[in-house]
Amino acid sequence: MATVSELNAHSLPPSPEASAASGHGRSHAKLILFGEHSVVHGHPAIAVPVRSIAAEADAVRSDGPLDVASDDPQITARDGWQDVPLMAAEATLRRLGLPASGVHVSVRSRVPAGRGFGSSAAVAGAIVNAVADLHGAELDRQARFELVQEAERVAHGNPSGLDARTTVAERGIAFQGGVVREFDVVLGGTLVVADTGVHGSTRRAVADVRALLEREPERTGALLDRLGAIARDAERALRVGDARATGGMMDESQRILRELGVSSTEIETLVTAAKGAGALGAKLSGGGQGGCIVALIGDGDDATAVTEALRAAGATGIWSVPPAPHPSGTTR
Ligand code: PMV
Repeated sequence: MATVSELNAHSLPPSPEASAASGHGRSHAKLILFGEHSVVHGHPAIAVPVRSIAAEADAVRSDGPLDVASDDPQITARDGWQDVPLMAAEATLRRLGLPASGVHVSVRSRVPAGRGFGSSAAVAGAIVNAVADLHGAELDRQARFELVQEAERVAHGNPSGLDARTTVAERGIAFQGGVVREFDVVLGGTLVVADTGVHGSTRRAVADVRALLEREPERTGALLDRLGAIARDAERALRVGDARATGGMMDESQRILRELGVSSTEIETLVTAAKGAGALGAKLSGGGQGGCIVALIGDGDDATAVTEALRAAGATGIWSVPPAPHPSGTTR
């Protein structure tokens, strides 16, 4: 696939010779480690790409209107499921100066939807890459981010951009107010992600926090400030692999997210199970009110005990993201 990965490099227009019979695109999942919700209010957040869990798309020419299809019930079962994919394809064609017709895109995804993995951003990213590839166009990272973010607005209303940034990133992301810095995340352990089985609505959770902020500005503002301060400190711990400090900050973040009203019984059950089995820290990841939790297991600690405890506590899916400067996950 024709891409350049330099931040802020320019996009090259499509060249007719480079245009292919079909285009392919892939884009990965993301995991927020710190700063969900507070990031919406201008504080920093930290997220990592999970490259082994990805969405893929193929684009071919057609005689008909622009069209996106999927055999994947996980994608098509959602209300208005075509909105984000169509917007991603349309925005890409527009960016390339081409009409929004004559392209058929098929998409499939291994990124669980509504679980905090950034599934809509991954699907949008795969489509952007496939449509660009079909036309032999090189889109730099900034261009791909902007196109994914445009599609994300359809799904989330006013997303912070964290998902879109991380789905086009190769390394950890420190994100604040739309400004992004990449850094090598050193976990000093393994991340285990466990699914509550409950579909979380990011849009609703974000609205709930906003309503709480309006009702109780002082208390809620202080909680959001603290989440932001933790994200800032966590970056330092994650740069040097201080897993114990990272775990402690995960626990404190979870307590605050609970006070903000975005935890749930299922999340608390999984967090308690992970901690009881020896995790250094555990918290929800993403919008909350369902979705996934993430637990950190220190190097040399028993990851199997944690995954077994999570399964026994009702986790409907468990993924492990091994320690690496460039995180990539494996499905279990
Ligand atoms: O639920 P996710 O993975 O899309 O993450 C949402 C993160 C929030 O901070 C709650 C919202 C946002 O736009 O950043």
